[in-house]
Amino acid sequence: MLVFNKKSDLSAFLSPLINQNKSIGFVPTMGALHKGHLSLLEKSLSENDVTVMSIFVNPTQFNNAEDLDKYPRTLNRDVEIMQELSNNIIVYAPEVDDIYEGNTVSESFDYDGLENQMEGKHRPGHFDGVGTIVKRLFEIIQPNKAYFGEKDFQQLQIVKKMVSKNKIPVAVIGCPIHREESGLAMSSRNERLSYEAKEKAAEIFKILKSAKTFFENNSPEATISFVENEFKKFPEFQLEYFEIAEESSLLPVSKKEADKKYRGFIAIFIENIRLIDNISLN
Ligand code: PAJ
Repeated sequence: MLVFNKKSDLSAFLSPLINQNKSIGFVPTMGALHKGHLSLLEKSLSENDVTVMSIFVNPTQFNNAEDLDKYPRTLNRDVEIMQELSNNIIVYAPEVDDIYEGNTVSESFDYDGLENQMEGKHRPGHFDGVGTIVKRLFEIIQPNKAYFGEKDFQQLQIVKKMVSKNKIPVAVIGCPIHREESGLAMSSRNERLSYEAKEKAAEIFKILKSAKTFFENNSPEATISFVENEFKKFPEFQLEYFEIAEESSLLPVSKKEADKKYRGFIAIFIENIRLIDNISLN
């Protein structure tokens, strides 16, 4: 398994492959790998000649210093996990300076309003940080395809928007949410939960599934109240938001319309850990 720490070394390795027209698949991550990340890797391995995974905890997308500080960093274990899957993965695990060259700030992006909803509202600057790192990684790696999870559905839509507005020649592929057997969406943050909290956190997906059923015969507003009331039964949770939005604009929905796709989005705290999830509603 090849692990590069410097973009110059990675580019030197990749450029002959790009010249030979090998297809490059790319999976950006912040490490602390779990099966959700591996499902993206497997898809890339099956669709491309070369697969690159980046592991980089990107400081500019954290709006909370404690969250950045506590984000799990487990590079050696991550490499071992990847080795079990395939020896053909190229890893790029840079230090902050290799990416930011002494100027650790975000560019600003206009994503046609996608950045003003949900995660953008609650995590100011987050999507400027995501746009900055993803654009730089695309410039370094020059992938043909890049794989993102629907777990971060708003991020997926934002990356698609950034790519189309900047005319970057990469196909952005959305991949389904990988869940624990309990239904809890896999996340690196789950590692910080106690055993009890992780068990309790299975309620999140249970309630999202009930919301989907409830939404069939009820308005968005009533469905939001339904979810809020369900969580009031569990004092362990602090609900930040539950919103129902149209999938492409991410605008909140007041009235259902035929032929539109809707999704329910949630951000919720348990043991002070912030978890997000979402579900397709039709
Ligand atoms: P990270 O949270 O490590 O996630 C990396 C990729 O894995 C993202 O595309 C995310 O949506 C996907 N992913 C995470 N959990 C998943 C799950 N349970 N099922 C399917 N896919 C899942 O998202 C980031 O890192 C960063 O913002 C990044 C894009 C790397 C930019 O720094």
